[in-house]
Amino acid sequence: MYVDKVLKRFQKPKFAGELKGADAIGEVGNVRCGDIMRIYIKVKAGKIADIRFKTYGCVAAIVSSDYLCEMVKGKTLEEAEKITAQDVVKKIGEIPLVKVHCSVLAQDALKKAIGEYRKKKQI
Ligand code: FES
Repeated sequence: MYVDKVLKRFQKPKFAGELKGADAIGEVGNVRCGDIMRIYIKVKAGKIADIRFKTYGCVAAIVSSDYLCEMVKGKTLEEAEKITAQDVVKKIGEIPLVKVHCSVLAQDALKKAIGEYRKKKQI
């Protein structure tokens, strides 16, 4: 069902885990399957200096979260918000069609984390 590249990334994600001292956390649930995603961000000079994710989710959710983290690290908050689930799927290369909805989870959690950060900082 999944190609090798996806399974390898699932076995060794680069951004999995909690981020101590995170500036903001975004948490969302997937109404279709009940899975949960949490994204932690650290922001410096308007850019995402560090990012991690924790999830109770499927292979697609884990892999797309990991790729999303890689894609947004070092980007400004505005740039990070513009990255879509489709961009992540494109970067992954191949994901089963029935699993595309799972890739939206990380996106939503990131947007929530950025929203929380802005609210805290009032920016
Ligand atoms: Fe729940 Fe993929 S099936 S996130």
